[in-house]
Amino acid sequence: MSARSAGTGNEPWWESAVVYQIYPRSFRDTTGNGIGDLRGIIDGLDHLVWLGVDALWLSPVFRSPMVDHGYDVSDYCDVDPLFGSLDDLDELIHKSHERALKVLLDWVPNHTSDQHPWFQESRSSREDPRRDWYIWRDGDPDTPPNNWTRAFPFGEPAWSYDENTGAWFLHLFSPEQPDLNWANPDVREAMHDTLRFWLDRGVDGFRMDVIHGIGKNPALPDLSDELAVIPATAFNDEPVTHEYLRDIRVLLDEYPTRPVAVGEVYLLDTAQVATYYGDGDELHLAFNFPPMFSFWDAGMWRQNITTAQDLITAAGNWPTWVLSNHDNPRHRTRYGGDETIARAAAVLLLTLQGTPFLYAGEELGLEDADVPPERIVDPSGGRRDGCRAPIPWTPDPGHGWEGPDPWLPFPPHSDRLNVASERDDPDSMLHFYRALLGVRHGSDALRLGSLDLLDAPDGVLAWRRTHEEDERIVLVNFTAGSQDIDRLTDHGVEISSDATRAATVGVFDGVLRPREAVILSPLGGVLRDV
Ligand code: GLC
Repeated sequence: MSARSAGTGNEPWWESAVVYQIYPRSFRDTTGNGIGDLRGIIDGLDHLVWLGVDALWLSPVFRSPMVDHGYDVSDYCDVDPLFGSLDDLDELIHKSHERALKVLLDWVPNHTSDQHPWFQESRSSREDPRRDWYIWRDGDPDTPPNNWTRAFPFGEPAWSYDENTGAWFLHLFSPEQPDLNWANPDVREAMHDTLRFWLDRGVDGFRMDVIHGIGKNPALPDLSDELAVIPATAFNDEPVTHEYLRDIRVLLDEYPTRPVAVGEVYLLDTAQVATYYGDGDELHLAFNFPPMFSFWDAGMWRQNITTAQDLITAAGNWPTWVLSNHDNPRHRTRYGGDETIARAAAVLLLTLQGTPFLYAGEELGLEDADVPPERIVDPSGGRRDGCRAPIPWTPDPGHGWEGPDPWLPFPPHSDRLNVASERDDPDSMLHFYRALLGVRHGSDALRLGSLDLLDAPDGVLAWRRTHEEDERIVLVNFTAGSQDIDRLTDHGVEISSDATRAATVGVFDGVLRPREAVILSPLGGVLRDV
């Protein structure tokens, strides 16, 4: 069975949507404590509407001791007071819907916080009814049950010994994030209830954290010595997880609003990632991270595109595209900081076949903040602090954040790269993203169409998107030199990443400028004035 019905006009909303990821701590603060909150997100909704995205995904806002800034949940059905209240979240969902924005929450099913009452009970005694809700193993207190290592701190064992009951518990992340035992049907039922709780409150779906981790091989076999230095989460790929996902899908399908499940499948092989769509009966969408780790290189991106086509689209599934998120350096930083590359990358992200995910601040062209050692707060040792820097809203030194310094320093050039200054500058990155999103919204080919790679000179990628009568061609010049593409001069330039071309937008002159990306439409079609 196909997971989607291509081009029937009955596509699910999430296929054509552009999703905007908000890291709530960093978005907007209304209390003056230097940490973003839900009311700040409510205030920011009009920014998202003006920009032209379709959905927002909030990184976790549930009750949490915040060891991993919310990815350690101590109550799945309440909001942490740091972010506001359940009423605030209800209001956020309501006000988003009023603005035709969908809302995705971040569901963290692989592990809880060690402060979650379930774990407190589980660790209290071997006889506790919730003992089996987590993954406990007996053994010598000096030798962990296997050689798995955790994600952070990197290289440390994925096990901690609990003196109280004299046993080891498994945690693929920090010791404060014990892994749930999904083999226990009571755990599955309890976690299903948390999904229903939020669906009944009107959310439109979930980003599912480390979803490939939930099923574990009960034998917990050692990894080879070579692999054991890499966090075990990168290898956990068990058949039973697919059963759990099918159950989750049945639950989601009970809701007429077609809630979406987007899985964080942090496996570094797209062939493995693709299996998590199941036979159209598991995840609707899965993050495919290998492209995020690519360089800005035409050959690598050609490969990324063909791999997604061969392994995801060809099986009737719908890819996702992500350049930045809260776990990795921002792509502008990774690609060397150059604004022209960041603009071309935006064209790439928003015109490939699949659902694009923007990370708040990329529309401003933000780079990672420089975080001095004394301000490191990320449990991974600071690797992820730079990309989590607060969003600058205004040019003044406080950048719209009241009170003392926010929880992390601002990104570089926040006096220029901020919402207010960029709104005032029609040539800004922010206006470019908005124009690009407008072009995408105006074209079924770009949102839903098929994708065919076209021949192009070395260092250039070219593809055609087609949906019924609608057609667009996208050209991306990855090189620092001009490139001749003379055969497309029967097309018009709908939008260009090169601000100097915008003034002369019109018939394509057959020459791509250095690092330029353009969207072309057949002449005779309506050309947009940018
Ligand atoms: C995911 C999240 C990351 C978090 C980890 C543990 O990878 O994206 O931020 O630390 O899961 O929940």
